[in-house]
Amino acid sequence: MNDVRPDAVIILAAGEGTRMRSTLPKVLHPIGGAPLLGHSMRAASAAGASETVVVIRHQRDRVAAFVEDFAGRLEGHAVIADQDEVKGTGRAVECGLQALPADLSGTVVVTMGDVPLLSAETIGELTRAHAEAGAAVTVVTSVLEDPQSYGRIIRDAKGDVERIVEFKDATEDERAVTEINSGIYAFDVAVLRRELANVTTENAQGEKYLTDVLALARAAGGTVHAHVIPDRWQAEGVNDRVQLAALGRILNERTCERHMRAGVTIVDPATTWIDTDVSIGADTTIQPGTQLLGATSIGSGTTIGPEVTLTDCWVGDDVHLRRAEGELAVVGDGASVGPYSYLRPGTRLGAKGKIGGFVETKNTTIGEGAKVPHLTYAGDAEIKEGANIGAGTIFANYDGATKSRTVVGRHTFVGSQSVLVAPVEIADGAYVAAGSAVTDPIEPGQLGIARARQRTIDGWVAKRHPGTPTDAAAKAAASSSSPTTESSEDQQ
Ligand code: UD1
Ligand code: CA
Repeated sequence: MNDVRPDAVIILAAGEGTRMRSTLPKVLHPIGGAPLLGHSMRAASAAGASETVVVIRHQRDRVAAFVEDFAGRLEGHAVIADQDEVKGTGRAVECGLQALPADLSGTVVVTMGDVPLLSAETIGELTRAHAEAGAAVTVVTSVLEDPQSYGRIIRDAKGDVERIVEFKDATEDERAVTEINSGIYAFDVAVLRRELANVTTENAQGEKYLTDVLALARAAGGTVHAHVIPDRWQAEGVNDRVQLAALGRILNERTCERHMRAGVTIVDPATTWIDTDVSIGADTTIQPGTQLLGATSIGSGTTIGPEVTLTDCWVGDDVHLRRAEGELAVVGDGASVGPYSYLRPGTRLGAKGKIGGFVETKNTTIGEGAKVPHLTYAGDAEIKEGANIGAGTIFANYDGATKSRTVVGRHTFVGSQSVLVAPVEIADGAYVAAGSAVTDPIEPGQLGIARARQRTIDGWVAKRHPGTPTDAAAKAAASSSSPTTESSEDQQ
């Protein structure tokens, strides 16, 4: 009994999810960076099912597009089955079965698109327990302190599973039962096909309940087994946004724990949010208030945070990155970013480079050791190795119609408060005088000055602002400053 892979997995995702009160289908609401349905698909795929069917109906095209895209990312394949107008989880499975080969035999696992924490290991253990018990049906159950509106597991005097009763159909006594139906099952496919045909819609919701298959299978002489799991969160489903947040928090705790065990310091897991696909190297420290999202990858020995949000970013080793927001940005080894920096898509900061306070970058490459330390916007630019961009420099990349590029050469120094009007190229080893508005090329070794020369007008204050404190200060300064005598006194 080494082979514990299910022959097929059917994932139910056709329901409307009215309790979410959302225009987005329930199964597409995300936690940990992936829609609920994505988590179910990933578990099915990792459990090694030979066939995966996803049953859809509500907002069919939107859900189908997601299923196709996500199956591709899992390097797998999912068959889409459409549920018809008959409602209920039983009907959904019937429609799912129609998408599977008619001669399929063995074990079909049914999971729910709204139970996101169920793991591939649990699917494997369920399949093994089902095979070992020689059962017709095995249902995954859990005992909850507050069983809410879950279906209740009703056992007979011997303790064997007799049936499942839905909360809405349950009596007071049945509602007092704390063992709940997770909605995850392993079925003998022949029993499932046969008994689904016998399920009616005579219940409080007028739906074809999958749960009714258990009592029918038992009545036909089959064994109905319960696989009780101690980790209750794997059995919990999302019906509303309160449960969405609760499961999102548990998933995040588990993700943080996994990284901490692998050598990452997370100072405050409660305020740190890490999507499931993020990778982090050992001896990296995550400070409070940090969100690492999407396919973000962080190297080793790096410090991230406090208050950093990175989406789909790549960050190297020994980086210092604090109070910043980044998306589709690359930060090289030993670089420093922040505080208050905004790295927009296409930012590539080289090794040991710097993006400092109140700097916004977009589609800009900053070479090794180059620095953009203060109050700058750099868009569509190439700032080469060792260059220094003075405080308040603006890369004017947009003329209202088109965007153009700016190049700043190697070890070139741009003085503060300059505007570099694209397209423009400043060569290697050049200087730009502070306050310049650069519109023409500057060649290697040149100084570019693009501002009016300073004028000074004698007696202007006395003439324009006579009798003011400024005028008085000027007069006092003039009478006391007799430069020759003062400096000779100092030297004695
Ligand atoms: C279901 C179970 C309940 C169990 C709970 C666990 C039934 C009758 N009840 O109730 O015993 O405790 O899950 O979370 O099975 N779906 C379809 N087609 C439909 C209806 C639902 O595909 O016609 C899908 C939904 O998209 C969802 C899943 O089935 O992914 C569960 O549907 P939901 O309406 O949330 O069922 P519950 O009332 O939670
Ligand atoms: Ca549910």
